[in-house]
Amino acid sequence: MPAWNLTYNTYKPQEEGLREALCTLGNGYFATRGASAQVSAGDIHYPGTYLAGGYNRLKTKIADRDIENEDLVNMPNWLCLKFRFTGGQWFSPENAAIRSYCRELDIQNGILTHIVVFEDEQGRRIRMEEQRIVHMGDRHTAAMQVSLTSENETGALEVESAIDGTVQNRGVKRYGELNSRHLEVLESESVQDRPLYLKVQTVQSELRVAMTARTRITRKGKALELAPKLMDDDGYVGKRYTVDIKKKETIVVEKVVLVHTSRDIAISECGLAARARIQRTPGFEPLLKTHKLAWKQLWRRSDITLTDRRKKRSDHHPEMVVRLHIFHLLQTTSKQTINLDVGVPARGWHGEAYRGHIFWDELYIYPFITLQHPEITRSLLLYRYRRLDTARAAARAAGYKGAMFPWQSGSSGREETQTVHLNPKSGRWIPDNSHFQKHVNAAIAFNIWKYFESTGDMQFMSEYGAEVLLEIARFWASISTFNKDFDRYEILKVMGPDEYHDAYPDADEPGLDNNAYTNVMATWVLTQALNVLEILPEDRIEELCETLHITESETDLWWDISRKMRIIFHDDNIISQFEHYDRLKELDWEKYREKYTNIQRMDRILEAEGDSPNNYKITKQADVLMLFYLFSAPELKTLFKQLNYPFEYETIPKNIDYYVHRTTYGSSLSWVVHSWVMARSDRKRSWKFFLKALQSDINDIQGGTTREGIHLGAMAGSVNILQEAYMGIKTRGNILWVNPELPEVLEKLEMQVRYRGSTLAFETTQEMCKITLLCSPENTFKFGFKENLYELKVGNTRKFHI
Ligand code: BGC
Repeated sequence: MPAWNLTYNTYKPQEEGLREALCTLGNGYFATRGASAQVSAGDIHYPGTYLAGGYNRLKTKIADRDIENEDLVNMPNWLCLKFRFTGGQWFSPENAAIRSYCRELDIQNGILTHIVVFEDEQGRRIRMEEQRIVHMGDRHTAAMQVSLTSENETGALEVESAIDGTVQNRGVKRYGELNSRHLEVLESESVQDRPLYLKVQTVQSELRVAMTARTRITRKGKALELAPKLMDDDGYVGKRYTVDIKKKETIVVEKVVLVHTSRDIAISECGLAARARIQRTPGFEPLLKTHKLAWKQLWRRSDITLTDRRKKRSDHHPEMVVRLHIFHLLQTTSKQTINLDVGVPARGWHGEAYRGHIFWDELYIYPFITLQHPEITRSLLLYRYRRLDTARAAARAAGYKGAMFPWQSGSSGREETQTVHLNPKSGRWIPDNSHFQKHVNAAIAFNIWKYFESTGDMQFMSEYGAEVLLEIARFWASISTFNKDFDRYEILKVMGPDEYHDAYPDADEPGLDNNAYTNVMATWVLTQALNVLEILPEDRIEELCETLHITESETDLWWDISRKMRIIFHDDNIISQFEHYDRLKELDWEKYREKYTNIQRMDRILEAEGDSPNNYKITKQADVLMLFYLFSAPELKTLFKQLNYPFEYETIPKNIDYYVHRTTYGSSLSWVVHSWVMARSDRKRSWKFFLKALQSDINDIQGGTTREGIHLGAMAGSVNILQEAYMGIKTRGNILWVNPELPEVLEKLEMQVRYRGSTLAFETTQEMCKITLLCSPENTFKFGFKENLYELKVGNTRKFHI
């Protein structure tokens, strides 16, 4: 399989959902799953279309409680394109026999192809070749071209092209009991000589979405004059054409689709916009050309090539999967996302799991985007800035100061975490306490700082970033309490990233004390907040202190907390995940491994057994180890020294070993962090974990979750292992530092990054690293390699021996 294609040569109904998610096409404005255009939603197929940030809230009564969820809405299905011989059955994977099959995602050009030979009950065979795009350069446009060849029959072929607005949210089985009808139809039209038209509205958020579709059928390049049967039925608009086709003859159906919403800028009204725009939108071929150009430009910046020593290439070899991950990252958040006021969702716009919500996963996603397309990160950070007031209100309501951002964020920035979730293993609805993960606030502050460090964008920091960071610092100061006994500050009743622990065994209330990750991050945020008040232009500092009423006594408190935060250790320098972690029981891993084939979701297993993960020393994902993921050893040493705690470098491998052995990998983010933290100390294992991170979606190693949406944090995180861990590219202060070290199995790694307006190309092997300055606004570029600083002129290359 070439390194740019994801190919499936057989049809497997049980894998359809997974493949649809992996073959999703999108452009950062909307995305459509890679479902067959001949199917509708059911147990096997799920042709979802989602708008970036297209949310709606619905209430449902569950166990006598009214619960409300905000969902990413499944929008009308524009794919619908069916065909049959008059009087026969529709050709589709379910209705017809499949004589040959190929579904291929061309990652380089963003094209999804289906080539299928169908045979109906009468033995009549049609060869279908479909190419599909969601235009990367024009965010409102999608198109498909379907050539239909009759292999053995002369007759009348019916072709139905439609937009189906009768769809509901049915993509996640666990949500099956929840209300799922998000759309109401506002306008529809199916008339001769005009494109199909449908306008719907989400029932609560009143987001209006207009779609138009123009269908053209040609034979030997000539458009056919046809009078289709018109369909306009309760949200389903379509046209059914009858075309005479001879044996061995081919007809080509072209469908061009336009999507506009009431949130679009530079329009009057979305229906008018979609109808006007389709008039000036060209046909499939010219669209394909400009779409390919947009992807070519994206890959020119973002491609990573890796050459590994293994001669035999497997189907899912790393280079292809890395590209697939970059591809989905760029389809979720692209230039087309800028100005949309959306965040970056944990599961992409690829499915309905986690309802399109924005979590702390940004932490894993930004590093790669920022060094490729910093303007996208800037726009995504503004999504948080615009929700600062809601975060302030949330902090006040909880009795804190500053701003408390939600664990799950959607349209308005209020807390969107569900209050109960279903354990499919026990069938029970269980309280969901994950909103106790206040550490998301530290991630937001960290992301702002890192963006600033990578870009030097003082205008952003000054006008937007600083305010958010300062308000988050204020929140951390107000949630911290002073414990006289220890002469230290503490953070009580929260949750760390490990979602398997939300309470102490037998406690009546959720919450854990002194989660080490949270406490260190809070320390870091308070330190950075003080730093921000030093580096901003003086007049802006004055403005911020006036507006936010920041006083000297408040900054003194920040200073004090950032010197006296409590971190707890056990077993000789093991950083305790939280206070009394050491008192929990060890799990009998062997017993569970024997009893259940997959123990990744130990929370579900234990709950179904009437037990709880809260009783055990097990973690769903990296928690303490996040510290080694985010900070270098010297940075951590400085932080611990600031807190007056010892920190020996030997602490790192010891803690890694301790927690890796207690992780169930219930979150795909664990593979990323574990690969990362071992990148230097155990290159073999690091590579093994990296491969796991690569497999997590393509092989659906969590068993059924990818069909509900990709895991964008793990996808981006795996790419970032190459950039930051193996190539060793890190921003620190005003310098881009490089310190490569490849896993033994990698022969060569090549990539480009953009840093403060300069473009650099990197090529690293086991023996040497070549850095070329491709272009720069300055004549020379200063960078760090290992411990030393060097300069490069535009067009020049420097070679380093490793
Ligand atoms: C993980 C979280 C993550 C969320 C969304 C959960 O399974 O535990 O850390 O933010 O998925 O990706």
